Parts: sequence; structure tokens; C-alpha cells
Amino acid sequence: MIHAIVVNKTGDPSALRWQSIDTPEPKTGEVTVNTTAVGLNFIDTYHRRGLYPIETPFIPGVESVGLISKIGRGVSGYKLGDRVACVSEPMGAYAEARTFPAARLLKIPKDITDRTAASMMLKGLTAAMLARRVYKIKKGETILIHAAAGGVGLILTQWAKAIGATVIGTVGSTAKARLLKSYGADHVINYKRQDFVRTIDRLTHKRKLPVVFDSVGDATFPGSLDCLKPRGLWVTYGNASGPVPAFAPLILMQKGSLFMTRPLLNHYIAKPEDYAKLARELFSMVRKGAIQIPIKQIYSLKDAKRAHADLEARKTIGSTLLIP
Ligand SMILES: NC(=O)c1ccc[n+]([C@@H]2O[C@H](COP(=O)([O-])OP(=O)(O)OC[C@H]3O[C@@H](n4cnc5c(N)ncnc54)[C@H](OP(=O)(O)O)[C@@H]3O)[C@@H](O)[C@H]2O)c1
Repeated sequence: MIHAIVVNKTGDPSALRWQSIDTPEPKTGEVTVNTTAVGLNFIDTYHRRGLYPIETPFIPGVESVGLISKIGRGVSGYKLGDRVACVSEPMGAYAEARTFPAARLLKIPKDITDRTAASMMLKGLTAAMLARRVYKIKKGETILIHAAAGGVGLILTQWAKAIGATVIGTVGSTAKARLLKSYGADHVINYKRQDFVRTIDRLTHKRKLPVVFDSVGDATFPGSLDCLKPRGLWVTYGNASGPVPAFAPLILMQKGSLFMTRPLLNHYIAKPEDYAKLARELFSMVRKGAIQIPIKQIYSLKDAKRAHADLEARKTIGSTLLIP
């Protein structure tokens, strides 16, 4: 037997129960991975709460790293002891060990530790998707990133800076503002205290922006649209404050023939070649030091409910790990 966090009924963080489960055995095409570190992600809270419905009971978690301990039939290219990352689907990262399809594993380069890898795979691939696929950030342009001191936000900020963009980031506290500045953001707006739309107008002399990366959702809508130039792109990729309410497409015309996209990482890494290429780009940025991955909070996996409560209370900065 091993231990895992199980959600038997969706709800508040107390829904996360530390339980004994059978040791997972790999089926054909799968391996078993003994977990060394789990990355905490905001999407885990959507699953736990039932915002993104999953059949119960389930083991949450979309980002873990560990060592291969068993290899199922039909698997080639991997051996016992290989260090691998299990990212996105199938979920089930909050466990001392898990099975995972070999075709979806990523091998971790030697110079990246397990803890760094578990802090950067899902968040970093998301940042890569946003900066390089959903929109190609260009040198010299000014962009807005909401919740820029968060896990994804801090990586995206550094990626945009490495390209040569001017980054305006929003944050919810003075400590986050200080940290974000130290990671290269050019302008930081505390959107709890300042009206971010007016500040963007002031900073850009009303010229506004070509793109807004918005993971906050409800609380930054429709303000984010008012930060865009005509034909600008609103990338709404998360719901940290709640889902964006339904609205009439006419608003996009009225505010300047705007574009909107609602991307999901899974759709950008569905093809193995796209997945491998995006991962190579991420590893390269981290290995050459263009992106640092700050691990600011570490909890025991058993204590996942405290980690969820802190994440939802906006107490975390950068990446957070759960250690089995
Ligand atoms: N579309 C995709 O494929 C994809 C993939 C990965 C992640 N995401 C999304 O990206 C976002 C960031 O994920 P993450 O794991 O890195 O989380 P995170 O950014 O570390 O945490 C969420 C942050 O959102 C901000 N926030 C604003 N209003 C909030 C509210 N009412 N309640 C809670 N937080 C609020 C907080 O920062 P401040 O205090 O600074 O405001 C908080 O720290 C999430 O929305 C997630 O769903 C999307």
C-alpha cells in the first residue's frame, strides 16, 4: 500500500484526504513513478471544488516528478531509476507513487533538480504556450500580465523580458510587488489599491497594449479589454477570482475590434511533437539561466489542504511544492 490525497466529494480544502491506496501497477504502455516532488497548481483547486467536474473519487494533481520504479509491457526508451516528469493528464500527482503513460513522460535534464522540475513543468509549459504559441511576444512591445508574481506569472514575466518586451505586471500585495520587480518587471501595479486600467493609460500615454495575459478572470473583466489597442488580443487563460461572466460579442467590437482566446495547455501539447518541442524550449530557457524558478513554499503532501487554503487566500508567491 501507499498513501495519496483523495477527493471523495468535491468541496473546500477539507475535501483533500490522506488515504492508503493500493500500490499502482503499470498497464501496457505505462510505467510506475515513485514521486519525489509534486507541483501545486491553481487548476488543482478547480478540480477539488468541482468547477472543472471530475468523477469522484479521484487523486488530484497535474504536475509531479519522480523515479521510474516499474515498467509495463510495450514500453521502450525508459529504464528503472530514470528521472521523469508527469505533466497534465492523466491527473493523479498527489500520491507517493503513480502510473503514467510512457508516451507522455518527459525526461528531466541532469542539471535540473527534481524540485525545480516539479515547480516548472506545467507552469513553464503554460508560460511557453502563452509567450510563443498563443501570441508571439515581440521585442520592444509593452504587455500586461495579471497575477504576475504567481507560479505561471513569474515565469511568463521572465520569458517576456528575455525576448525584450516591456512588462507591466499586476499583483495583490506589496511583498509580491517587490518580488516581481526583482524578477525584471518594468512596472508593477497593485490592483488591490490602484485602478489598473487608469494606470495602463498613464503608463502608455493612452496608446494601450497589443496583448493582455489574464489568469484572474472575473475580477479583471472587463477592465482587461479596456487596456487593449484596437485589434488587440485578450488572452483569458484562468479563473483565479472566478470564471468570466457571459457577455455579448458586440463588446469586442465596441472596444476596438478586439480578439479573444481562451487557451488550454492540453490542446497545445496534444501532439507528441508539439509537446516535445515546447518542453525543449522551456528547458533551454531555464538551463541558460534566462528563467529562474523560485520555490517559495514547500508543504508536506499530507498537508495539501493547508497549501490549497493558502493558494486560494492569495498568500503564495511563485511556485509551491508538495513533498511526499
Ligand atoms: N489555460 C491553461 O492551460 C492554464 C494552465 C496553467 C495555469 N492556468 C491558470 O493560470 C493561473 C495561474 O496558475 P498558478 O497555478 O500559477 O497560480 P498562481 O498564479 O500562483 O495563483 C493564483 C494567483 O491569482 C491571483 N488572484 C487574483 N484574484 C484572486 C482570487 N480572488 N483568489 C485567488 N487568487 C487570486 C493571486 O495573485 P495576486 O494576489 O497577486 O492577485 C494568486 O496568487 C490560474 O488562473 C490557472 O488556472 C491555466
